[in-house]
Amino acid sequence: MTDSFAPALLNWFDEHGRHNLPWHHNRTAYRVWVSEIMLQQTQVATVIPYYQAFMHRFPDVHSLALAPTDDVLSHWSGLGYYARARNLQKAAQAVVKEHNGEFPRDQQQLEALSGIGRSTAAAILAQSYDIKAAILDGNVKRVLARYHAITGWPGQTAVLQKLWQFAEQHTPNDRIRDYTQAIMDLGALVCTRSRPSCERCPVQQTCLAYANNETTLYPGSKPK
Ligand code: ADE
Repeated sequence: MTDSFAPALLNWFDEHGRHNLPWHHNRTAYRVWVSEIMLQQTQVATVIPYYQAFMHRFPDVHSLALAPTDDVLSHWSGLGYYARARNLQKAAQAVVKEHNGEFPRDQQQLEALSGIGRSTAAAILAQSYDIKAAILDGNVKRVLARYHAITGWPGQTAVLQKLWQFAEQHTPNDRIRDYTQAIMDLGALVCTRSRPSCERCPVQQTCLAYANNETTLYPGSKPK
């Protein structure tokens, strides 16, 4: 079956996607990883100045691994969720000690590092190593739940499994790096949580939620 999703999305991305974020330059696994951890609970615009200061102080995995923990935490102050910063340093120390300072190019080995789950591991593989791997962060869950009209709360295993299945199905063999950024951009810029801009969406024609005028139903919320 030919899937038009990735080609349509990539065409849109070329013209409308975000191409100039700080972590798009010099895409080492280290730089992509730090960006992904910062972006887990924080918006892009907030992250950018923190990211730049962090990279200035900790330019590589060794400097982060060796730094006083207080120094790492003070560079995190303002981003919140300090467990992320602690995990970051723990993972940096493991990369230095167990992987010779080089981030593994393997999904399972990445997931074994503190603070790195399935989607973050995939984002690192795709964006820094150009390895085909499917991501499924909050933005992507919303895009796919709408596109395929998947009912139910993504916190439920069965719903999450369906979302991962579609995430993998749409992930293309080529341009994996751009595709990964593109689907996140679509969720952040077009397929927004409230009042999505369907008139600007590159996959509107094949979106089930749009066809049924039901974008607000997806993704389902947590049962009370
Ligand atoms: N959220 C997580 N990763 C991101 C990225 N690379 N660009 C924008 N938002 C993101």
